[in-house]
Amino acid sequence: MTSETTLDFQVEKVADSRLSEFDPANIQFGKQYADHMLVCEYDNGQWGTPRIVPFGDIAMSPATTVLHYGQAIFEGIKAYRQENGEIAIFRPDKNWERFNRSAERMAMPAIPQDLFIEGLRKLIKTDSGWVPEGEGTSLYLRPFMIGTDAFIGVKPAEKFSFIIITSPAGPYYSKPVSIYVQDEYVRAFPGGTGFAKNAGNYGACMAPTMKARSLGYDQILWTDGFEHKYVQEIGTMNVWFVIGDKAVTPSLDGGTILEGVTRDSVATLLREHGITVEERPITTDELVEAFRNGELKEAFGTGTAASIAPIAELTIHGEHMQLPPVEDWKVANWVKQEMNNIRYGATPDTRGWIFKV
Ligand SMILES: Cc1ncc(COP(=O)(O)O)c(C=O)c1O
Repeated sequence: MTSETTLDFQVEKVADSRLSEFDPANIQFGKQYADHMLVCEYDNGQWGTPRIVPFGDIAMSPATTVLHYGQAIFEGIKAYRQENGEIAIFRPDKNWERFNRSAERMAMPAIPQDLFIEGLRKLIKTDSGWVPEGEGTSLYLRPFMIGTDAFIGVKPAEKFSFIIITSPAGPYYSKPVSIYVQDEYVRAFPGGTGFAKNAGNYGACMAPTMKARSLGYDQILWTDGFEHKYVQEIGTMNVWFVIGDKAVTPSLDGGTILEGVTRDSVATLLREHGITVEERPITTDELVEAFRNGELKEAFGTGTAASIAPIAELTIHGEHMQLPPVEDWKVANWVKQEMNNIRYGATPDTRGWIFKV
């Protein structure tokens, strides 16, 4: 996809770039941010002129809506340095759609597609030196929106800030993960906000995740709030299982699961490759039984941050299940490579997934 916009951007460049402090050989996720950020304010029912300004602190009244009532949503996207040196954003149109679904749920204004996608392009162009090269690396893009009224009454804000910051990223999980299947806490329930990427969903997951970590697990696989029977998703990833010769992932019905862009991409690639994909309810009992029968061949998480994260072991209601060695997996390893081929340009993009900067 090429760039088309009539949007006017104001650009104020940094006096002194920090790029010389960036060491692409030693990237620590989320520790360093590129020189600039995009800021756009919403007031009187409309979005103002987007500005690209030096990355820096934002000042706000202690009474600001977001600080008290959590009117905050975000997205996570990656831009990749392709083999020919060009920069490609992976499916930002899907993130834009999801951002607006989150906005609607949180009583926040929609963002025009132009502002979101051309804003990303313009910001990445300004900071192109911050996009690392090499497989597994990327520039992580974090668009977010917050309610900014300086008013402490409980009501939706009328003023909002849309901001994009970016941070170089290396490979996310270095080793296969160990997962605890949650049977106490709940992440999402029908009618709630599970399908949205609002800040509160993540804050509420932190204490249960720390508890799981203290028991030696990397992440939680959430289950439904009624019976802890149906699996939902993991931390910041959708979950997949290979049972027999089918790839299965929980269906999105009920609005309890975030509709992952990676999930959709993986489902598309697997189907095109002739692998049966089932999106349907999956119970913990089915997983335990499949494991006992030797039918549970692979389990993995999919998400922008981690890409494809193999699950080495799963603990369900005290039953510890060690999966076969990851090197022998057919599905996860194939799809991981295929995703990388598309992102880094080794395979031509035939699906309109790559947005060149
Ligand atoms: C809760 C949750 N589930 C799933 C995902 C995976 O979504 P995506 O593939 O769009 O990154 C994410 C990450 O955004 C997430 O935060």
